[in-house]
Amino acid sequence: MKLWSGRFQKETDALVNDFNSSISFDQRMYQEDITGSLAHAKMLGDTGVIEKADAEAIAAGLKGLLADIEAGKIQFTADNEDIHMNLEALLTARIGDAGKRLHTARSRNDQVAVDLRLYLRREMGEIRAMLLSLLEVLSRLAAQHQHTIMPGYTHLQRAQPITFAQHLLAYASMFSRDVTRLEDCRARMNLCPLGSGALAGTTYPIDRFETAQLLGFDGPMANSLDGVSDRDYVIELLSALSMVMMHLSRFSEEIILWCSWEFKFIELDDAYSTGSSIMPQKKNPDVAELVRGKTGRVYGSLMSLLTTMKSLPLAYNKDMQEDKEPVFDAVDTVKQCLPVFTAMLDTMKVLPENMISAAKKGFINATDCADYLTKKGVPFRDAYKAVGQLVYACTAAGKTLEELTLPELQAAHPLFDADVYEAIDLKTCVGQRNSYGGPSVAGTTKQLEILNTFLKEREEA
Ligand code: ARG
Repeated sequence: MKLWSGRFQKETDALVNDFNSSISFDQRMYQEDITGSLAHAKMLGDTGVIEKADAEAIAAGLKGLLADIEAGKIQFTADNEDIHMNLEALLTARIGDAGKRLHTARSRNDQVAVDLRLYLRREMGEIRAMLLSLLEVLSRLAAQHQHTIMPGYTHLQRAQPITFAQHLLAYASMFSRDVTRLEDCRARMNLCPLGSGALAGTTYPIDRFETAQLLGFDGPMANSLDGVSDRDYVIELLSALSMVMMHLSRFSEEIILWCSWEFKFIELDDAYSTGSSIMPQKKNPDVAELVRGKTGRVYGSLMSLLTTMKSLPLAYNKDMQEDKEPVFDAVDTVKQCLPVFTAMLDTMKVLPENMISAAKKGFINATDCADYLTKKGVPFRDAYKAVGQLVYACTAAGKTLEELTLPELQAAHPLFDADVYEAIDLKTCVGQRNSYGGPSVAGTTKQLEILNTFLKEREEA
């Protein structure tokens, strides 16, 4: 018998029962549903909407139910549609009439809205902590590699010399922004829809400030229609998570490149690589590839929910039940990817010799060579042209710029002098790039300082 069976003359068709039901996926919010109900019942008792004794019976019943769910003693049923009605039915079976009073001044519309906010608030906290762990690893690795010279790329062509620290700290900047995006999202999400009722509030003298406070929200949502129909916070979270995955995916792509024989900048730990069933020599970066691959699922969830919401009239519509599976999948995916990615990074072996030998090829000191002339008063465009000619000559002769003799250099421009060799040495090139945000040791030390302060502030908070 359905909780809402009063106005119906027929049983729900079995097909509809299954189609309508969300218990298979919303049961994961059992804890939040009980937390929300505990706050609601306490408020109902405090405001005199129900008897205090009933409120206490409800609280005791809910706590017993929670313990039994956690002990694996409870079976939910699709006959009761969703987690909200399952729990109400189970409670009522246990405590009788008091259980039937729990839903006073409440609708499943504000109930599901509060459950999802509570659930996602917790999950986003866990994801934030995982991002902070990733940042810790990046900070440690970067501190070790402030002197590890590698080629910096544009168009995946060797461009200018940087350090491995500089490269890692670029990702640290991205993941730090991801952390703050989650923090911003949490701040906007942390308002309580409970008490919005079905859509139009309620005639009972409820106290929305009390339930908001009991549930750790900053206050109640201002508008009851918005309270039950807003899913902005889910979309905002999905968009922040999409960005996290986009960053992880770019990084994964580089890890995959770096551990190829073509680069060999790193070697992944055996525990974080996989073999081939046919090729005995293979060691594959499956973890990085899967992270890259799973990015699409999270983007898909974002598009799915944006589309679900785009034409919904106010207030609640059943379409909104379709918010859960995508966001649960996105949250699960990100929570799967972050720890394994972090551990993969933490255990990989960096091969600085291969980075420096790649840096030595590809004329990545050509800009510095032109800058050398510019600092002697040659207009940059003329210096650029002279060095361009040298690069052309080097390519034909199979030489690097520093292998050219002084007369060869002077043939391109008379202002080249013996000190040019020092100036275009890769160590000098990186060391001289000490503009704010640059790869010099001073530059990466400053960046590490910013990163470590960011982490420390969050550790203390
Ligand atoms: N299972 C529903 C959902 O996830 C709960 C709210 C149902 N409300 C309603 N009026 N049918 O959206």
